[in-house]
Amino acid sequence: MGDIIDGKAFAATLRQTIAGEVNALKSERGVSPGLAVVLVGDDPASQVYVRNKGRQARETGIQSFEHRLDMDTPEAQVLDLIRDLNADPRVNGILVQLPLPSHMDAEKVLQTIDPLKDVDGFHPVNVGRLTVGADAMAPCTPLGCMMLLTDRLGDLSGLEAVIVGRSNIVGKPMATLLLRENCTVTVAHSRTRDLPAVCRRADILVAAVGRPNMIQGDWIKPGATVIDVGINRIEGEGGKTRLVGDLDFASVQPVAGAITPVPGGVGPMTIACLLHNTLIAARRQLAMLPPR
Ligand code: GUN
Repeated sequence: MGDIIDGKAFAATLRQTIAGEVNALKSERGVSPGLAVVLVGDDPASQVYVRNKGRQARETGIQSFEHRLDMDTPEAQVLDLIRDLNADPRVNGILVQLPLPSHMDAEKVLQTIDPLKDVDGFHPVNVGRLTVGADAMAPCTPLGCMMLLTDRLGDLSGLEAVIVGRSNIVGKPMATLLLRENCTVTVAHSRTRDLPAVCRRADILVAAVGRPNMIQGDWIKPGATVIDVGINRIEGEGGKTRLVGDLDFASVQPVAGAITPVPGGVGPMTIACLLHNTLIAARRQLAMLPPR
């Protein structure tokens, strides 16, 4: 029976470390890092995420600036807001919650964020820097997965890693980070032939497709470390909604060496890594880290 990787506990410890470092920054330099979160529209899942980001930032001693805009806000107004936040010295990190309403060009919005304040790591400059192996802000969810993997496995060199999903938010940056750690990386997706056979090669399997309970126990190499990035709301017994991942947990856990649960696995790590990136951004802007 595979061990359960407790992302909730790991994230709590990470937040404590960050809180200590934020405190040190306050006493040494008299400043608190600031994180601005921009939410456009009223998507219920995004509202929950944004609320949690703000609360956990404050609990860590990071100032939270929340900007909630109506669904039909013109794109130009969002771009103006981002330019103001770029120029605001109290704001060290800027996050625009995705997805944006369909009348907006998400690429254009993300490219307006100052790369030094891009705590999501979605700006093409940061994507490029990460890809060529330069110092860059790494996207929060893949960064959280890497922390859990290295904590569990130590050196990842030479391991076979399979990622299911090729999104810009998780799949592609996850591949970059695993390659940096010398894994042999396969990115599988909806057109992959014989997906179960590809998954069975994996010492490390990362599921990031957004399809409830898709990946089955007989797709797993015995002893593999399995990371579930999926957060799917499904209707459970009695009409109540509940969260499930992309893995069929009941059949995967007996075969895996270790597995992240949903909830309580990768999810809490994403926000902790956002706070981590905000602290790094603040230090760089205060010239406490070398310029890039
Ligand atoms: N929507 C889903 N995941 C994310 C994320 O990591 N960052 C942002 N900005 N939006 C998201």
